[in-house]
Amino acid sequence: MTRLLFVNASQVITCAGAPRARRGKEAADAAILANVAIAVEDDIIGAVGPLNEIERDYGDAERIDCGGRVISPGLVDSHTHAIFGRARYEEQELRAGGLGYMEIARRGGGIHSSVADLRKRTEDDLFVLALARIQKLASYGSTTIEVKSGYGLSLEDELKSLRVIARLSRELPVRLVPTWLGAHEIPLEFRGNSRARGDYVRLLIDEVLPAVVDGNLARFADVFCEPGVFTLEETRSILEASRTAGLGIKLHADELEPHGGAELAAELGAVSADHLAAISEAGISALAASGTVATLLPGTMLFLGRDRQAPARALLDGGAAVALATDFNPGTSPTVNFPLILTLGVSQLRMTVAEVFIAATVNGAAAVGLADRVGQVAPGYSADLAVWDASDVREIPYWYGDRRCIGTWVKGKRCHYAGAADNLNLSREP
Ligand code: NIG
Ligand code: FE
Repeated sequence: MTRLLFVNASQVITCAGAPRARRGKEAADAAILANVAIAVEDDIIGAVGPLNEIERDYGDAERIDCGGRVISPGLVDSHTHAIFGRARYEEQELRAGGLGYMEIARRGGGIHSSVADLRKRTEDDLFVLALARIQKLASYGSTTIEVKSGYGLSLEDELKSLRVIARLSRELPVRLVPTWLGAHEIPLEFRGNSRARGDYVRLLIDEVLPAVVDGNLARFADVFCEPGVFTLEETRSILEASRTAGLGIKLHADELEPHGGAELAAELGAVSADHLAAISEAGISALAASGTVATLLPGTMLFLGRDRQAPARALLDGGAAVALATDFNPGTSPTVNFPLILTLGVSQLRMTVAEVFIAATVNGAAAVGLADRVGQVAPGYSADLAVWDASDVREIPYWYGDRRCIGTWVKGKRCHYAGAADNLNLSREP
């Protein structure tokens, strides 16, 4: 049995508290402690407290000297599209030259080009590509990562993508949460008339969904609900069927234009509504009054060069539960750097450092239905920890773009370990 004692941390960002999404004042307190040690028993956190109080119960534990660094819960990245083939760097200059995201998609670029590419690839090929990408995400401090399908858009290619996620889960220590996003786009072979669109929605509901559920391949279903992609009515029918079949539900909502997606997410009791850069006042009120987590993805708007970010302050001040995530994908957010998203949370969304940590831990966990197990450094929680080369929590979003995470543990097992962590006992340079 693993028994670990993490000692000599400058601060522990515990995020400890209720096992649910935080909102209002609760979202502004990351419960940061100084002078505490953390004891791990097997896969669970056993104790958090002053060393002299807990060490007598953990005399036999392996000591990990953090050298005056910061410990946080392992980060929870609750929105990624990590299963894809080739990168789409050619679109960046097209956008710089004035073409919009939707215009590129209409010309066969965007999601369609990732779909054509993924369909040609074998499961093994996709596994190798995704493995390296997930390891990179983990190297920046994420210990729980939601991963969506959505570049297959056929029965076989969606199942192929989800099987890759299942295999990654078996072979990597990081915790993955699989989401079926068969409704990411209407595939080209179903375009042309509204009957064909309807046929694709029926294929999703009648054939793909049952196969996903039978294979136990996803925990959530997601839909890209946006003008030009899936309508509110199509989204409702796909998500209601998914919920009936036993999946949790999520929406890509109000990303580029206000469309009532947030209101629909609240009405359906979705676990999260994601993007929201174009959410309306009514959408903000609907989310604030609901249990749905508002998942904001500021890296996406930055990368697309849009001048609008989601109204995080209005959501937070209105009482909504806010999470942050990378949206890691080949089209709109090719970053594996979750701490950079925390920087954007502070500098672009005007969140406090405590708010961005709650958003990237407890509230991310709530957005994947795991708030009772991950996202907190507290007794009984999964021993998912990140050690940062920082002596103050505020350094983590401050050194923007840098990889300050030097080690993570998932369920008490070492997950990522950077060079500097070979000697965690070295004290920090001032
Ligand atoms: O979250 N908005 C839809 N889906 C992705 C982008 C997918 C792509 O362009 O490949 C997103 O931004
Ligand atoms: Fe997305």
